[in-house]
Amino acid sequence: MYPISHKAPTDAATSGGACPYAAGAFDHARRWRADEAWELVQAVSDGSGGMPLGDAARLAWRESVRCIGRLHWRSLKVIDARSLDDADEVFEACVEHLRVATGDGRITPTQTVFAPWREGYPRVRIWNSQLIRYAGYRHRDGSVLGDPMNVAFTERVSSLGWSPSAAPGRFDLLPLVIEVDGRVIVRELPSEVVLEVELEHPEYSWFSQLGLRWHAVPAISDMLLVSLDDVFPCAPFNGWYMGTEIGARNLGDANRYNLLPEVAERLGLQRDSGLWKDRALLVLNEAVLHSFAREGVRMVDHHQASREFLAHCEREQSQGHEVQAEWSWIVPPISGSSTGVFHRLYPLQPRLPNLLPQVEAWKDHKGTAQTAPLSTPENKNKNAEQGRAGNA
Ligand code: ARG
Repeated sequence: MYPISHKAPTDAATSGGACPYAAGAFDHARRWRADEAWELVQAVSDGSGGMPLGDAARLAWRESVRCIGRLHWRSLKVIDARSLDDADEVFEACVEHLRVATGDGRITPTQTVFAPWREGYPRVRIWNSQLIRYAGYRHRDGSVLGDPMNVAFTERVSSLGWSPSAAPGRFDLLPLVIEVDGRVIVRELPSEVVLEVELEHPEYSWFSQLGLRWHAVPAISDMLLVSLDDVFPCAPFNGWYMGTEIGARNLGDANRYNLLPEVAERLGLQRDSGLWKDRALLVLNEAVLHSFAREGVRMVDHHQASREFLAHCEREQSQGHEVQAEWSWIVPPISGSSTGVFHRLYPLQPRLPNLLPQVEAWKDHKGTAQTAPLSTPENKNKNAEQGRAGNA
């Protein structure tokens, strides 16, 4: 089904010694279900046995074709939570993950790995796309308060009975939704493990009046960790932010916080022509980098990240391990051609271990457990509406 070839071990860079990479053509960009990924693993596996969990997790990061931060792959701290089989314990482990990863702003790349997709193990999923995300509320007139990216998820969580503790705002933390063997729990994160940075600009005093903030730790919680002999549907991981992820994309994208018009307005720029968007983008990105630095929260700018990625490519090349990468994800969203990563191409033959996008637990339950709370009679009508909204 999948055209796979076995490659001889090419290096022994991790603590586990030999590291048998499986190279093959698989679609790294589509969303996978755990059972499909399991088939992929079966096709790749040469039966030679596994590697320690920590090595698999670190190699998966090393092979993540969309990540510019891979120079640091050896430093990933891996927490083994494979034995947890209770939703409340999984929640506590997520809280602990954030505590360890945040470390007052020093930020440690961390991955917590829950049960594998195997007979006899619990089915564990985190419904949230990241451990920390802001709610998005759609008003009747179609406008959105908060993060438009999370509107459908916010509606789904609301259908489970959640509502924000105070009046809805632009940066309301979503609760974690955790599913274990069909039991779904909804839990608020304790605020002490969610470090956030209020944004100000080093020169423009009006900037802080915009009331913007962002969380310190990007912790992706819905991707599949695929090793050479196991699939882990729940294995949240984090690094630290590159400034542009927040300053250009999260705050600037027209379908996210869409702040370029407001920033341009404050700057007094004419919006009918010229490079007003570019100037607004620059100001947003300056504010993000400045504010994270002020709070001592680790963050890399896109120029430094680009240099580090090229150093990583060189180091890997010298070990006979050519870096696979997706150009359009590696090149930063602003000032692309001023960074070194822009001026070359990369092979794109994804290998295992890897991290793959996963079908959302809350959209499709084929391949994972059913969600009892969603099929209770009192939720039925509401869920039917959610379903239509989600598919629109
Ligand atoms: N771009 C995503 C966000 O803004 C985070 C993706 C992972 N980023 C990272 N630096 N590890 O939330």
